[in-house]
Amino acid sequence: MKVASHQLRCTECSAGIAPEAAAADFRCPLCGGLYEVIYPWSSTADQTSTRTSGTVMPDVRLPNPSALRWLWQERRTSTMAVDQSGVWRFRDLLPILSNPESPITLREGNTPLYDLPRSAKALGLDFLLAKHQGIGNPTGSFKDTGMTAALSVALERGFEWVACASTGNTSAAMAAYAARAGLRSIVLIPEGKIAWGKLSQSMDYGAITLQLRTDFDGCVRILNELIRRLPIFLLNSVNPYRAEGQKTPTFELVEQLEWQLPEHVIVPGGNLANGAALGKGFREMRELGLIPRVPKISVIQAEGANPLIRSMIENGGETLIPVVADTRASAIRIGSPASFRKAVQTIRSTGGWMAQVSEQEIALAKAEIGAEGIGCEPASAATLAGLKKLVASGRVTPEERVVLILTGHTLKDPEYTIDYHRGTLLRDDELATATPADLNLHTALRKPPTVLDADTDAVLRTVESVLQTPVPA
Ligand SMILES: Cc1ncc(COP(=O)(O)O)c(C=O)c1O
Ligand SMILES: [Zn+2]
Repeated sequence: MKVASHQLRCTECSAGIAPEAAAADFRCPLCGGLYEVIYPWSSTADQTSTRTSGTVMPDVRLPNPSALRWLWQERRTSTMAVDQSGVWRFRDLLPILSNPESPITLREGNTPLYDLPRSAKALGLDFLLAKHQGIGNPTGSFKDTGMTAALSVALERGFEWVACASTGNTSAAMAAYAARAGLRSIVLIPEGKIAWGKLSQSMDYGAITLQLRTDFDGCVRILNELIRRLPIFLLNSVNPYRAEGQKTPTFELVEQLEWQLPEHVIVPGGNLANGAALGKGFREMRELGLIPRVPKISVIQAEGANPLIRSMIENGGETLIPVVADTRASAIRIGSPASFRKAVQTIRSTGGWMAQVSEQEIALAKAEIGAEGIGCEPASAATLAGLKKLVASGRVTPEERVVLILTGHTLKDPEYTIDYHRGTLLRDDELATATPADLNLHTALRKPPTVLDADTDAVLRTVESVLQTPVPA
């Protein structure tokens, strides 16, 4: 039997498979489930069939928790790219490469953790932080952490072509890392339904960009046909190596909190891979004795793209009920999420929640995050909007320490922000759903640009009139 540093394990039926033996669509041939990467030290390694996988994993002993913490800290002072990366600095916990010292890296990760004092106060919470995956990551979204991992695997396996279907951020990240690796990339995006910032990135990084007259789910269907016919490495989030990179913000987060754990982490949900990846990161840290427990992981969807919520309500999450997705938070406009089962498992096993939020609630939350000097793209703001609901329903209590994962940079979708501040984003019927307090907040937060003649008196008059309006608390 071949010895490998890791195996793939079906998250549905637990069958193991050798890394190179996975089908091009990364689906289990026995049950159609998705894979996750397991290591000799994973708790699930024992339940996984080595007979079906044809590989054995060596009996690897990891350094003890304090040695690992020390090693990760030491690497911060190194000038090597692999150490400066906020993903590969933790490479001991993602040994997926034969040559772990030279991944395809753009110094991803190392993302900031901000407090949100005004939002915390408004919600009556003592502790509210935002881990901003849109800041620090080279293409401005959390997808970079997964792409550095999966693209490095593609290169090691000798692929020349990579491809993804995307609502925009995956394609931006894939195009950048593929260019870096010298590989060719094909992007399938829904025509007219992705933010300009993201579309411009995939062109900038030299991808073959195909805008299909369909939605994201339609792009996925075409992509599955393509990979059946051509030797292409699939880089959608069904690729289990993406999760290996996307789990690393959990390591960073606990380091930033000096190994204090929050009670609750909240993510926006689209294809539903990110929450599951973060859950894996926390779970592995607990298994290795780095942390004592796993925080709750909650997932927030837009009302118009809510297959997770609908399926949970209608059948307890047993089967996916796809929807025709529609939301201005284009990153999460996904009706048939590939990682539905993984997300259900993550929410259940961590004791997390889910919530759905309206277009009006997302727009308000985004403006509030902007007014804290941070900003984010609309999908990311769903986290704050969802938190408000979880607080209102008593599911989050005031002493709970909450971390929102902000997934994308505010400049990804400037059109949305401009429309909001000009007052052209929300329809009257959408605004009519806001409470009087929220309507006041919208009024206070909206800052439309004023066009004036280049005349000092006119400018002074405008500034004086603005000075008379109260600043929101
Ligand atoms: C900014 C942003 N937030 C959230 C998501 C949703 O992540 P996931 O598809 O892993 O649920 C995406 C996915 O494209 C995204 O781009
Ligand atoms: Zn299976």
